[in-house]
Parts: sequence; C-alpha cells; structure tokens
Amino acid sequence: MFGRLQPPNGKKPSQSTEAAVIDIRNITKTYFMGEVTLQVLRGISLKIKRGEFVSIMGPSGSGKSTLMNILGALDQPTSGEYFLDGVDVSQMSESELARVRNRKIGFVFQNFNLLRRTEALRQVELPLIYAGVPNRAKRARAALEAVGLGQRLDHLPSELSGGQQQRVAIARALVTEPSVILADEPTGNLDSRSGTEVMQIFQRLNREKQITTVFVTHDPWIARHTNRVIMLRDGKVVADQRVKQPLIAGEAERPSEAEELQGIFEATYYGGKKEEYT
Ligand SMILES: Nc1ncnc2c1ncn2[C@@H]1O[C@H](COP(=O)(O)OP(=O)(O)OP(=O)(O)O)[C@@H](O)[C@H]1O
Ligand SMILES: [Mg+2]
Repeated sequence: MFGRLQPPNGKKPSQSTEAAVIDIRNITKTYFMGEVTLQVLRGISLKIKRGEFVSIMGPSGSGKSTLMNILGALDQPTSGEYFLDGVDVSQMSESELARVRNRKIGFVFQNFNLLRRTEALRQVELPLIYAGVPNRAKRARAALEAVGLGQRLDHLPSELSGGQQQRVAIARALVTEPSVILADEPTGNLDSRSGTEVMQIFQRLNREKQITTVFVTHDPWIARHTNRVIMLRDGKVVADQRVKQPLIAGEAERPSEAEELQGIFEATYYGGKKEEYT
C-alpha cells in the first residue's frame, strides 16, 4: 500500500537539499499535572519540504493533535527546536507567535470552527483584516471561488452543508497565502462524498500552488491520497513512508471495509512490516 519503509527518525525520504518549510528537532511535550507528569511527545524530528502533502496517522492519544498544535505555533514544546521557513519559532514571544500564525499558517479543523452568525465572505476576510492587508473582499472572493463557493458568498454556516462549511474553512486558511496548511482530521465529520470533494481541493491546491499541506487522519483511504504518511505511536514516529502512487480524489473506488481495517491495523501498529518495528 505504501512505498518503501523508512527507519523511524532516520534518513529523510528525499535527498534533495531544498530548504524545509517545517524542521523540528527532537521535540518533546510533557504535561505536568500536580504529582503526575505525562510525556506526550518523546523526541520527534521531522523535515517537511515545500510542496509536500503529508498525512499524520496513529492511534487515539498518540500525540497527533499535540504535534499539530506545536507545528501551528499554538503551543510551545517542552524541549526541542522548531524552524518554520528557516526561522526559530521555539524562541518567540507570544505576540511574535501570533504574527507567525496569521502570516504563515492556515488551519483547518475537524469541526470547521466557523463563526455562526457570519457570512462566508466575511469569514474568509477576517484573517486579512488581522493581517491589515488591502483588497480584502476581492481576495476573499477569489479564495471562495477557488474552493467552488463563488455562488455562496453571503451564506451563513447554517445555510451550508458540512462539506461546504469545510470548504469555507479551507478558503479562510488559504486566503493569506500561508507557507503551510495544517488540518486536524478535516474530513472527520464529513460523509464520504463531501470528504472526497474536500480531498480534491487539498490535492488541487497542493498541485497547482505547491501549498505545503500536513493533515491528521484516522482514515487510511484518505492517507493514500497524500504523498507521505507519518505514523505516531506513544509520542514517537514509528514509520515515515512515501506513498508511491497517491490516489487521485474521486477517481478510485473505496475498498471494502475489511480491507481498510486490515490496512489501518498493519500500517498503524506494524508500519506495514512487523519485523521492522519489534
Ligand atoms: N492539555 C493537556 N493536559 C494534559 N494532558 C493532555 C493535554 N492535551 C492532551 N493531553 C494528553 O496527551 C495525549 C495525546 O493527546 P492528543 O490530543 O495529542 O492525541 P491524538 O493523537 O490527537 O488523539 P485523537 O486521535 O484521539 O485525536 C493524550 O493522552 C491526552 O490525554
Ligand atoms: Mg487529535
């Protein structure tokens, strides 16, 4: 199902010297709760280059969202370094971080996180207002057109389907032309048809605009549409694999449930080859 296995935290999948958009080095995250400490991330190092389309998989509680929050500069690691576009984010103040989030990162969440009483166009304009840039309405309209919502500019979230709401959220994430789009289970609350539409948009943005995209999914079928799959378990990278021939959203039939479950079991727990991880 995937390409050749890479050793955990080992050699980069590509030997290109092109600069990494995301470069994290030995990141740890520990939560301190009174007497109890919980080490959620245990030394994660990753390089993600411009134009890569990466999915992060792993069992519930393995640290995927914790890692995404650090990648998104929403949270700081306990130790380790994080270079975003070559800039050391782990040394930044809260106000500098807020600026980085606004300028360099686009977020897409599982539950869309749209403002309930705000029309689509306005939702997409908001990050531009925070950034203080001109031509906001024009840019917001273009972003909504890019996700196929040019006819829904003045709709409220309640007047849109789940898939359309997620597309508004994608337009909001891409309108600032971020260095990277981070999405935590963006298709998790969607039916399979809407999920496919959302995947088509991510694939097109990645292909046409080389937008670096990282997203979390529990769904191996969705992961097979990306170029690289990183597996976490207990706060560590246990596999980092190229997808040899990524699927094109909407082209192939989804395999039967049994095949899918077998796939996720093997990929998550054994990284596809049991003997390499025992
Ligand atoms: N603020 C916090 N304080 C204490 N523990 C936390 C905190 N946030 C997360 N955790 C713990 O860290 C671990 C990893 O959580 P995380 O949300 O990253 O998992 P996940 O891989 O995203 O899981 P899921 O697939 O269920 O979304 C869990 O055991 C969780 O209970
Ligand atoms: Mg999570």
